[in-house]
Amino acid sequence: MHSMAMIVCENLVKIYKVADLEVFALQGLDLTVETGEMIAIIGNSGSGKSTLMNMIGGLDRPSAGRLMVNDKDLLKMTDQDLFKYKRETVGFVWQSNSRNLLSYLTAQENVELPMLLSGHHKKDRALELLDAVGLSARRKNKLSQLSGGEQQRVAIAIALSNNPAILLADEPTGAVDTKTAASLMGLFRELNRQMRLTVVIVTHDPRVARSVDRVVAIRDGKTSSELLRRRSVREEMQDVGALGEAEFVSQPDVEETHEELIILDAAGRLQLPRDYLDAMGLSGKSHVKVDMEEGRIVVTRPEGMEQSQEETQDVSQLYSEEEPEPTERKGKLAIPLPFKLPKRKKDQDNKETE
Ligand SMILES: Nc1ncnc2c1ncn2[C@@H]1O[C@H](COP(=O)(O)OP(=O)(O)O)[C@@H](O)[C@H]1O
Ligand SMILES: [Mg+2]
Repeated sequence: MHSMAMIVCENLVKIYKVADLEVFALQGLDLTVETGEMIAIIGNSGSGKSTLMNMIGGLDRPSAGRLMVNDKDLLKMTDQDLFKYKRETVGFVWQSNSRNLLSYLTAQENVELPMLLSGHHKKDRALELLDAVGLSARRKNKLSQLSGGEQQRVAIAIALSNNPAILLADEPTGAVDTKTAASLMGLFRELNRQMRLTVVIVTHDPRVARSVDRVVAIRDGKTSSELLRRRSVREEMQDVGALGEAEFVSQPDVEETHEELIILDAAGRLQLPRDYLDAMGLSGKSHVKVDMEEGRIVVTRPEGMEQSQEETQDVSQLYSEEEPEPTERKGKLAIPLPFKLPKRKKDQDNKETE
């Protein structure tokens, strides 16, 4: 279907069994990541972000659905093939570098060690990798003498040592300050461009949206909405010059650079924003009326149901063919976390309704 796609998740399900309990960590998740794309994944704690990363990285197996990475079917692989896949296709960076680094070794030794273990020890390769992450000058320093950001750079160098097609980073900037986070994001972007590396970054930091092509929000184990860049990073860079740390920190709000679209999955399901539902007083399992009106899909509370707001909120603007009129209504909707919603835009794939 997507010949260029590096990662395709379709209706992906992961169930963890803990004693007698079943935890549905992924509940039919759909996601496609193109080759060479750099995306961020956001979502509340427990929404399934790390689970998804572990599935893509071959650290664990999905329970059901489809997961294709680099044209390989991760549900059908043998354990041996999965091991090989993990070693050859993906590089991992974690939030805490204690997971891949040894503090009593130098930066260079840390990078050489995994290569030694896999029988491919090449000093030149280690130096090349340290250079790629901007750490050549610090290569002889012990890990304990490096800053948090520098340690993450060592971790990134290690993640790149097997020349992966995909770099997976699970909250890589979670333990560093804003400036350091900005320069790490700059490094990810550089690697993404130079090596045509597909990069997936899990984050809590809305500012990373500025540095990526697309932000995918996950809610309850499903993708719920996406922020897409209005303009390419390249276009923006031409305007502001190189995207330095200062711009990163003092960037405009994300709604100026991105627009948010809700995901309509293959089965026709979508997740309406929580606060829209709250505003309509719909909670838990409800029934709603859905009508087509002038190129819009309008969701209304059925007659007879109690109305908690004065007016029915029109959530149809998502599917509008035209620019929605600014709503100056009283019950104007508040904005969900973690991003403020930009003006709702038309769905690109919306069908003609005439
Ligand atoms: N190894 C595991 N065993 C059991 N439950 C797990 C395991 N890993 C994650 N979970 C559960 O799956 C859900 C999603 O977790 P996770 O993917 O870690 O979320 P996030 O990274 O978005 O915080 C949570 O309810 C979590 O408790
Ligand atoms: Mg996590």
